[in-house]
Amino acid sequence: MALIDKHVILEKNVTLLLIFSLLVVSVGGIVQIAPLFYLENTIEDVEGVRPYSPLELTGRNIYIREGCYVCHSQMIRPMRDEVERYGHYSLAAESMYDHPFQWGSKRTGPDLARVGGRYSDEWHVDHMMDPQSVVPESVMPKYAFLMNRVISPDSTFVEDTMATNRFVGVPYTDEQMEMAVADFWSQVDPNGNIFADADPDALLERYPGAQTRNFDGQPEVTEMDAIIAYLQVLGTMVDFSTFEPVASR
Ligand code: HEC
Repeated sequence: MALIDKHVILEKNVTLLLIFSLLVVSVGGIVQIAPLFYLENTIEDVEGVRPYSPLELTGRNIYIREGCYVCHSQMIRPMRDEVERYGHYSLAAESMYDHPFQWGSKRTGPDLARVGGRYSDEWHVDHMMDPQSVVPESVMPKYAFLMNRVISPDSTFVEDTMATNRFVGVPYTDEQMEMAVADFWSQVDPNGNIFADADPDALLERYPGAQTRNFDGQPEVTEMDAIIAYLQVLGTMVDFSTFEPVASR
């Protein structure tokens, strides 16, 4: 009996067929999954990518809470139409500290991976308060209530969310953990109007390139400040005037 004829044995025995199907599927699975165990090899090191500052991370949590990812992606594919519209294609390293990642799967609105610096803070405030006031045909909902959600200086939520991120692998240092609340305030209130101990220079040392200012223009610090700080940092960590992918070096 030729080897191929032995297939009959498998076809007539449900248990054997199951076992052998499982074997075949496992081989395919391992080939796809095993390389991901060596993530250091699959994400190239890129200069400039750093963990989010406490304020940016807070904004990111609001972005997730409000479900912005339902309408917006954060992933520019390496195709000409996308690159011409949104800028340099997204690098794996740019979302290496995103837990969970915000690549999204739907674009009711435009991709936001490089929206940082594209608009002024004032534009963002107007747009978030009432999107139709700046883009009349927009179907984006209003998020004006974020202006009224004041964040108080004694809250400890920033530390908790940073601890969670550290737990899943974001390399926040002990110093960054310790200074979390101070860094939060130093970024949004660099002149110390509310938080007397503001020290924006120390913040910048821990989070190079962090933008420090009152983002929503109100005296109070609100969730609007946090979400605009987050939007303004998106896609700005890597300097693409000097970046060269490993493959073309
Ligand atoms: C129902 C879908 C929907 C949701 C939810 C939504 N957006 Fe939008 N967004 C849009 C659409 C459509 C546009 C394009 C028109 C405009 O600019 O308003 C847009 C545009 C934007 C822009 C301008 C992008 C650019 O490059 O012009 C930003 C920034 C933005 N949205 C942020 C957010 C944030 C932050 C949230 C969550 C708080 C959010 N959006 C939730 C649909 C949505």
